[in-house]
Amino acid sequence: MYNLSTVVRHAVIAAAVFCGLSTPVSAQLTIPITTAHNALVLHADATGRLNTLYFGEKLTDTSDYSRLAISRRDGADILSSAYTPAGSTSLAEPAIAVTHTDGNKSLDLRYVSHTTTSENANVSTTAILLKDPVYALEVTLYYKVYANDDVIEQWSRIDNKEKGPVTLDKYASANLCLKADRYWLRQYHGDWAKEMQPEESQLTHGIKTIDTKLGARADLFEPSVFMVSLDKPAGEDEGSVLYGSVEWSGNFRVDLEVDPNDDLRIIAGINNYASPYVLKPGQQLTTPAFLYTFSARGKGEASRNLHRWARDYKIPNGRGDRLTLLNNWESTYFNFNEDTLRGLIKDAKKLGVNLFLLDDGWFGNDYPRNDDHAGLGDWQENRKKLPNGLIALVKEAQQDGVKFGIWVEPEMVNPKSDLYFRHPDWVVKQPGREEHYYRNQLVLDLANPAVQDFVYGIVDSLFIKNPGLAYIKWDCNAVIYNAYSAYLKKDQSQFYVDYVRGLYHVLDRLRAKYPAIPMMLCSGGGGRVDYGALKYFTEYWPSDNTDPLERIFIQWEYSYFYPAIASANHVTNWGKQPLKFKIDVAMMGKLGFDIPVAKLSPADLAFCQNALKLYGEIRSVIWQGDQYRLSDPHIADMASMLFVDSARSSAVLFNYLANNRYGAGNKAPIRLKGLDPAKHYRVQEVDRYPGSRSGRENNGVYSGDFLMKIGLDPQINSSRTSVVIRLTAE
Ligand code: GLA
Repeated sequence: MYNLSTVVRHAVIAAAVFCGLSTPVSAQLTIPITTAHNALVLHADATGRLNTLYFGEKLTDTSDYSRLAISRRDGADILSSAYTPAGSTSLAEPAIAVTHTDGNKSLDLRYVSHTTTSENANVSTTAILLKDPVYALEVTLYYKVYANDDVIEQWSRIDNKEKGPVTLDKYASANLCLKADRYWLRQYHGDWAKEMQPEESQLTHGIKTIDTKLGARADLFEPSVFMVSLDKPAGEDEGSVLYGSVEWSGNFRVDLEVDPNDDLRIIAGINNYASPYVLKPGQQLTTPAFLYTFSARGKGEASRNLHRWARDYKIPNGRGDRLTLLNNWESTYFNFNEDTLRGLIKDAKKLGVNLFLLDDGWFGNDYPRNDDHAGLGDWQENRKKLPNGLIALVKEAQQDGVKFGIWVEPEMVNPKSDLYFRHPDWVVKQPGREEHYYRNQLVLDLANPAVQDFVYGIVDSLFIKNPGLAYIKWDCNAVIYNAYSAYLKKDQSQFYVDYVRGLYHVLDRLRAKYPAIPMMLCSGGGGRVDYGALKYFTEYWPSDNTDPLERIFIQWEYSYFYPAIASANHVTNWGKQPLKFKIDVAMMGKLGFDIPVAKLSPADLAFCQNALKLYGEIRSVIWQGDQYRLSDPHIADMASMLFVDSARSSAVLFNYLANNRYGAGNKAPIRLKGLDPAKHYRVQEVDRYPGSRSGRENNGVYSGDFLMKIGLDPQINSSRTSVVIRLTAE
């Protein structure tokens, strides 16, 4: 434990790029937060105000740290606050704003102490305690460092030690400060079937905000993932780039401000929109984490760091296995019965997948779920469709050596349901206003503990009643209109926060009881893909848009932030490309099928079966390997994605024609990355449709050196639209 009175002067690794620096003055206390390659250096000045001295690549000469100091230019210091408080000397966009018990709105935070605790050689957490000298309000800033991954999770805890309630008007997770000549932001927008549409632009002075106010299905129009390149747009292998994301499945807000010092201030966390949060005396609020990684060697390294981190520390069973599956959604929609499903289970076995996933439409009796207008909330098997219950199907699947999984959407309710009539007070809606629906449904009030128990109970009882149930697809198809919680009564401003906390509480309980069950995170497609939710889910559904050409682009953008093992990709009837193209695209993640298997020609069925066998051999490289984006379909005719295992002895290269204009195709060999130059690799085109032409150079042995300097030519053109190449070191 350090404190100001002992004035510790650390030798710190830092420099080159610093926030708001001009004349060196004597440092009072510096707190370096370092990863393998980077440093975030904080500084408490003589008055105890905590500022960011530096964020970027760490320096080798640690004594350079003593050269850093905060500028004394009027106003300059307030911009680099490590957690900007509102209402005292800082006039910049705050990270935290409060209303004290007495109605006063000023806050001034001063350093008190800090500690660093290590979990192991890679993971440590620095906690910095700040306190208002006038009011009994404390803020602790947490920096959880994953050193070898160059990843930091940052959050804050706000403690009300005043005698009465304190209202938190804003309570960000983190407040970063970076310095560069210019900044380029890559952000995303979207909608149903159009997830992860990128836009890149130079940031100008003032504040750019990325946020959502949708409550649930919160990322539908805009997810919280973004990246900022410093000085110039970063490439895959060069340039400085920060990736950021809020680990929160509800309303988030990220402000990016190019300030009067030309520094970039990033303030990220829960959206304070309609959400002043009241802390009673003695209460505290811990924010979700803002996740970030920084690379001075381009976007590729940043992605690979994040992927490794996600597999090791965030996604359940990130280093483990996944189940291939056959889903019935697109082959039956709501129209099935027990016989249909028995047939599909047999089809799953014939195809060679691990699991059959029963989608929407299996429940509801007074209000049968025969379309999306009724039944949500009534989670009893529909007696007409499933007279012998789910258990009969689970057993049938077991006999066939196939696992059985099921779709649920337990946070939601159709007004046409028993649940709606039994528990009107559980439904999020405004008492005096007309109801307004999204996909004909309303959201249940997860701020209410009784609703949390109900939602937990739905999934728990599915497992209890159906031993052997092996997989859950958890959907969330509506945004929150007319936000109002009957449970919270006068505390409505806590609703958006307590909803997400309620959801996490349910998921925590489920994960405590069922730690190993694979679960898919779905939200009408990718409406809820974030690392707050992915703590609980083994995989996510990127989009209902499974047209493989669209998926190349959608999966490309997700790949910046999320590892392939978590991307559930299904082969469906969307898109006009050949079956092989669809399977190849779906293989770049967790492969599944959602097609009427019975309608496949014998040749197509055999092709699927062989593809699944091949996938069994290459999937660990895709799931656990390092991912390299080689040819960007936004710029080139061809999309190329490479996965290389950690021993650099196996690799898989996927190539696709992403442009249908006359003469489109790759013009030159594609240079590979991440191989061992000294090794020799057998190159083999795989997953070829019987009778199709193999590429000239795609069978033979090449050195890693050759493949990385000269490359290989997948010969992508209008007659070879999808080519998968496997490389095996000899
Ligand atoms: C959402 C999902 C689909 C499917 C349907 C069922 O749209 O994204 O995959 O499960 O719900 O209603």
